[in-house]
Amino acid sequence: MAPVGFDAERFGALLPPGDRAARRLVVTFETVDSTSSELARRLRAGVPAGTVVAAGSQTAGRGRVGRQWCSPPGGNLYLSLAVAVPPPQADNLTAVPLAAGVAAADALVSAGLAEVRLKWPNDLLVEGRKLGGILCEAPDPRARPLLVVVGIGLNLSAAPLEPALAEGAATLPEVFGCALPAEPVAAAFVSGLERRLATLAGPGRAALAMDWKARAEPFGRRVRVGTVEGVTLDLDEAGRLLVRIDDGTIATIGGGIVADLGP
Ligand code: BTN
Repeated sequence: MAPVGFDAERFGALLPPGDRAARRLVVTFETVDSTSSELARRLRAGVPAGTVVAAGSQTAGRGRVGRQWCSPPGGNLYLSLAVAVPPPQADNLTAVPLAAGVAAADALVSAGLAEVRLKWPNDLLVEGRKLGGILCEAPDPRARPLLVVVGIGLNLSAAPLEPALAEGAATLPEVFGCALPAEPVAAAFVSGLERRLATLAGPGRAALAMDWKARAEPFGRRVRVGTVEGVTLDLDEAGRLLVRIDDGTIATIGGGIVADLGP
């Protein structure tokens, strides 16, 4: 019988040689509350970095800043990966969301999409609409090694159940003309993210910021983040967004939802 939801065997076979699923714990569900919540529970029970939890649908999918993530069945990607932040953790923790965004954009391009843009910190946009998002959480910020749960949701095929919850969202059939299987995109994302994190101690840190900017929407857009409104300028070294407010001061944005108000 064909597997329902995410096919762990197919995913494992698509990982690069030397990183086959045999040495990686991959846990799949037809449906789960949230792959990120499930992975956090398993981390508390002692599973190692590299563990993957994936599901065919989620009943309580979570987005950034407490939002809900619509997670219907039908071929979308809902996957969480545990990564170990390389030391120095305080510096490298902020690199994880950027690295995840770049790895996800690259995975989609390698699957055939011509252009995927990143909206800070790691919304994945196609034709200006949100195809997917990434949620990075450290369940135990004091633990060493510091483990981060990187959860990715990509609308590779199914439409959101409740369009009102998914304003501005796109599905791949809408913006690309057809669906894509989740496993190859997932394998490229997982191996790409781990490769990038492994280079952070060396020149990878500067390269990451450059690669992120090369895939990002152009700066110079008017945005609102919480109570801050101004024009996007750049990223700082820690990966935070710099916004010039109308009185000329520069605000440093470390988190939140960025509402795009136009050029
Ligand atoms: C965002 O708000 O843009 C981030 C969305 C992240 C959704 C993914 S789906 C897999 C993982 N499990 C969750 O509950 N959330 C993330």
